[in-house]
Amino acid sequence: MELALRGSVLSFTDNPFLAPEEDCYVFEEDGLVVIENGKIKKVGHAPNLLPELSPETKITHYKSGLILPGFIDCHVHYPQIEVIGAYGKQLIDWLNKYTFVAEQKYKDLDYAKQAADLFLRELLQSGTTSASVFCTVAPQSVDAFFETSEKFGMLNLAGKVLMDRNAPEGLLDTAQTGYDQSKALIEKWHGRGRNLYSLTPRFAPTSTPEQMEMTGALWKEFPGTYLQSHISENKGEIEWVQELFPDCKDYLDVYDHFGQLGERAIYGHGIHLSEREFARLHETGTTLAHCPTSNLFLGSGLFSFEKAYDPARPVHAGLATDVGGGTSFSQLATMSEAYKVAQMRGSSLRAFQAFYMATRGAAEALYLTDRVGSIEPGLDADLTVIDLKATPLLEYRLSHAETLHDILFVLMILAEAQSIKATYVGGKCLMERVNGSVRFADPL
Ligand code: GUN
Ligand code: ZN
Repeated sequence: MELALRGSVLSFTDNPFLAPEEDCYVFEEDGLVVIENGKIKKVGHAPNLLPELSPETKITHYKSGLILPGFIDCHVHYPQIEVIGAYGKQLIDWLNKYTFVAEQKYKDLDYAKQAADLFLRELLQSGTTSASVFCTVAPQSVDAFFETSEKFGMLNLAGKVLMDRNAPEGLLDTAQTGYDQSKALIEKWHGRGRNLYSLTPRFAPTSTPEQMEMTGALWKEFPGTYLQSHISENKGEIEWVQELFPDCKDYLDVYDHFGQLGERAIYGHGIHLSEREFARLHETGTTLAHCPTSNLFLGSGLFSFEKAYDPARPVHAGLATDVGGGTSFSQLATMSEAYKVAQMRGSSLRAFQAFYMATRGAAEALYLTDRVGSIEPGLDADLTVIDLKATPLLEYRLSHAETLHDILFVLMILAEAQSIKATYVGGKCLMERVNGSVRFADPL
């Protein structure tokens, strides 16, 4: 079955942090995206492509719509949906007071399934079609997540959190059980449907050297799997890591020592990294996930995209919400905060750069450009449609925008989730807003 979406179409082809921005995207004001069997078949100027369509093709015309690749969230915690917006603590206290309490509930499969379902609906409402997701230490939390993700047909990365010290008893595994359970989950879920497995040592302070060692070894045993963790988010955290691993040169060196750097390794935050650490991230192809709403909310610090994307040694950096440290599921809201973080450091993030970081840049960071992140023939038809007239303010403000950059910038500052008109996953419209209310596809 062929279908086609008509509207303005924007997709990135290159990195606007490193190349002139006008060379980095394709924009069709009156565009058409033709979809067949869940994949993008053609994209181009609508008046050129319309005569070629077969008469049965169902065409949806988004007259005030901007069609983008579905947003990709490079780092988020689904069990923290119940503690998003918890008052008053910085990282370690926040983990102990809120996060570690919530995560203990996810031994209960039904509880976990309910949260996973709500979480994925929040992503879809925000125009996000893929995410790199932390579950909890309980293997049931991973089963619940992947089962739900498979039902939705989404391409998501996720894994069981590994923690064998410095957390409540109810959240601890051991080096051996963590290894065994992760291995069984890889064998069960990696590559099933569109699911991808990510080994998930929470961060260096909550794993013993034995667990770190076994995790690095397991990652090597299963090429193509991912690894995700946290790095250099909070100054107190960094000092703690130095105390726990006194023989390592710095925070990154801990992960390096245990074979946890490389392509398909994704580290949240990376706010306070040294030049040595950036150079090593570059050398190994390791990714950073920039989480601005979280960094502001937890008072962690200001990420530098200039340091990450230094042309002398660029490091992949994708945009991420980090809910529940982060305060919104919307990648548009996240772009807005990324802009403000940069402003606080005296630099300005271009709208092209922000949209790149949430789409193609995120796919590059996750080594998934052959599947998602752009609107190109052969890629999965994961798309989001923004309604440029979603609110009277947006419509009025955009009537005063003169360039594509103006339009994108106004969207990232003002639009947020309510402007997402529709979200397509594998060519299927899973979420649409009709007169402002959200409708999910049956039988989700
Ligand atoms: N570092 C270790 N665990 C976490 C977490 O759950 N959230 C954030 N923001 N940082 C962490
Ligand atoms: Zn996180």
